Amino acid sequence: MSSQRFRDKVIIVTGGGSGLGEDYCRGFSAEGGRVVCADINEAAARKTVDSLQESGRRSIAVCCDVTDSHEVERMVEEALHTYGRIDVLVNNAGVIRRRSLIGTTNEDWEREIDTDLKGPFLCTRAVVPHMMDRGYGKVVNISSVAGIVGCISTAYSASKAGLNGLTRQWALELAPHGIRVNSVAPGYTATPINEQVRRSSAGKRIGEIIPLGWGKPADITAAVLFLSGSESDYITGQTLAVDGGLTTTVDMGPEYRNFDK
Ligand SMILES: NC(=O)c1ccc[n+]([C@@H]2O[C@H](COP(=O)([O-])OP(=O)(O)OC[C@H]3O[C@@H](n4cnc5c(N)ncnc54)[C@H](O)[C@@H]3O)[C@@H](O)[C@H]2O)c1
Repeated sequence: MSSQRFRDKVIIVTGGGSGLGEDYCRGFSAEGGRVVCADINEAAARKTVDSLQESGRRSIAVCCDVTDSHEVERMVEEALHTYGRIDVLVNNAGVIRRRSLIGTTNEDWEREIDTDLKGPFLCTRAVVPHMMDRGYGKVVNISSVAGIVGCISTAYSASKAGLNGLTRQWALELAPHGIRVNSVAPGYTATPINEQVRRSSAGKRIGEIIPLGWGKPADITAAVLFLSGSESDYITGQTLAVDGGLTTTVDMGPEYRNFDK
């Protein structure tokens, strides 16, 4: 039998309809959590929740665009109306457009920053007052290795580096209220967002230069659940890279890797 770290806890997961978010929902639910699966794609959120309910867990799907403050407030009201509390917020909803500096249009910039940076701001601002009332809460921001090293795209890198900064700022502001704020920075993890890249020769090369290869959603979920639960109560303001060693190493090619020569 799995542990019940989230028994009777209420967890909002944004972008829970697909990829990593869907896996977090499954992880929280399997450990007794009541999940509010929020996604701009209502059908996807419902599908996630239906799959959780098949295993007898209680959870709800909410259609919410995290870039719209009215929809975010409605999501929080729905969570409170259904469960009366919110223990954990996972700011996971994100979009990615691979673009160079010069190739980034105003529209690319706005969409990326709105979803990946303003979205977590709107969701956290709406949820935190309810956590303050109870003197306890956990916020987990889903960042990326692109917020630590240059590897993907102008607006994406800016939004994820910004999110790491917000994590530190909010950790400071919210500590007196018993609220811990941390980021998880996934590396290259196999989800629908990067299916095309994975199949390409560049995808194979990426797998070769990461010391532990491509990650799986379960690798990221383990870190998200850890930072959402009570075992991590003395950790706040951190960005935990779950990236198979990508951001701590420099790959010089196979010959260089023969360290005994
Ligand atoms: N997959 C990876 O390798 C990887 C690596 C680093 C970081 N990440 C981050 O992890 C998060 C999830 O990525 P994924 O790979 O699971 O992507 P995904 O595309 O599979 O899932 C993203 C989900 O977010 C939802 N979404 C998009 N815009 C939204 C909005 N405005 N409001 C609400 N929901 C919205 C989508 O409908 C989708 O269900 C993202 O923040 C991404 O930047 C992923």
